[in-house]
Amino acid sequence: MNYPFWDVPHIGSGWVIGLIAIFHMMIALFAVGGGFYLVLAERKALRENHRDWLEVLRGHSKFFLLLTGVFGTVSGVGIWFAIGLANPEATSALIHNFVFGWAMEWVFFIVELTTAAVYYYTWGRVSEELHLKVGWLYAAASFFTLFIINGILAFMLTPGDAWLAVAGTGQEASRFWQAFFNPTYWPNLLIRTLICASLAGVWALVTCSRIDGERQPQLKTSLVRWSAKWLVPSFVLLPAAFVWYLWTVPESQRVLLHLGISTIGSGMFTQVTRMMLIVGLTSGVIVAVTYVFAWRSPLEFNLGQASTVVLLAVIATASGEYTRETLRKPYVIGRYMFSNGVRVATVDQLNADGYLTRSLWTRQGGDPKRVQGEAMFRGQCMACHTVYGYRSMRHLLGDRNRDAIGNLLTLLHDYKPDSPYRAFMPHLAGTKEEIAALRDFLATLNAPASPPPASKVKKIAAANK
Ligand code: HEC
Repeated sequence: MNYPFWDVPHIGSGWVIGLIAIFHMMIALFAVGGGFYLVLAERKALRENHRDWLEVLRGHSKFFLLLTGVFGTVSGVGIWFAIGLANPEATSALIHNFVFGWAMEWVFFIVELTTAAVYYYTWGRVSEELHLKVGWLYAAASFFTLFIINGILAFMLTPGDAWLAVAGTGQEASRFWQAFFNPTYWPNLLIRTLICASLAGVWALVTCSRIDGERQPQLKTSLVRWSAKWLVPSFVLLPAAFVWYLWTVPESQRVLLHLGISTIGSGMFTQVTRMMLIVGLTSGVIVAVTYVFAWRSPLEFNLGQASTVVLLAVIATASGEYTRETLRKPYVIGRYMFSNGVRVATVDQLNADGYLTRSLWTRQGGDPKRVQGEAMFRGQCMACHTVYGYRSMRHLLGDRNRDAIGNLLTLLHDYKPDSPYRAFMPHLAGTKEEIAALRDFLATLNAPASPPPASKVKKIAAANK
């Protein structure tokens, strides 16, 4: 372990990234789809002489600028902070491989931000033709930001054989494009592009819901319906895109879909399949709500209904991201680096030299064995587990005693091909002594006499007052 560990109580550091990422996705994908929505709507308004549309579009572009330019960018920076803290090793590996990818991304990003502002501030101030051109420039630049970031995100699931062949040799940069256009690149891009289109429709419905239907019935009907249509491509093509995606995901990851992770013993619905069901169901409900409330009765379509659609979209996005994240287990970069930052290729060396030999910051003082065990736990387990909260050790260890915990750690350490844990847990690295220290530390977590966490003690004390 080369970096100190960021301990986020109860939810774990992974969820910090997750929560920011879900918020960011809702806006960032809108930033791409919404650009196309604006120019295509403006073009249609000009061609078919719907002058009244233009005023609404102008208002929408303000909302768009604020949402994407403020909340989208701030949450994007937030992701950087969160991944740097939660997984410095992986963040470093990504930067080393894709520094020019990000350089390109930021160029497009600056163009995107600038043109979004220019587009909003030049309504009615430049010729209609030039205004449309600015809109197209925005749309193209924002699409390229997706085009690039998609390469890096897809890489994390499937870096591809060409890159893996040189990984760790210092020659990684020579396989930049192979790593970028990796096996899941295109299906992932298609899925994201479709979601961009539907989010453009979803957020546009928010703007349209606020048009006064009594005063401007025709305007409201035409715009609500036109916006609702943006959900159609996703609805029609997403299932096929998803099948294509799964087909390109390696078998070893796909098994996670039907493996009984959380359910060892409780049936067929794993976390991943449950999440996929939620994605499917919420997407269906979004389409149904949009059809019934927006398409069939556009005049009565109101902000409450539009917000419901947004909320459902958040749920679908969150579940989709969760599924994608889980599919990658136990890796943060497929077959190259485990979620806890341990590189697959270094496990043997760590077994020989010790996992903690380079962790100079570990707590000094106290019982050295316990310090060692805790440092092992933080470094190798807490990327996915917490002590008392999400995927809690206390709960998952169940009533295993010290020996049973030792057996579990042996399974993780030997990492035999038929080990049931291989599918979702990393190879446990370290010397015999370190693993024994980890075992003893874990045995204190679920021991019946182990005291409840300090926060609980306080709560109980407060309740008893
Ligand atoms: C890549 C993420 C990840 C890492 C790192 C990880 N685990 Fe897990 N672990 C999981 C998942 C996912 C489950 C299944 C959780 C569930 O069933 O809800 C799990 C389950 C478990 C269980 C319950 C297994 C059972 O059969 O009941 C134990 C015990 C456990 N982990 C211990 C550890 C220990 C100890 C470490 C560190 C050496 C560790 N895990 C590291 C992801 C991880």
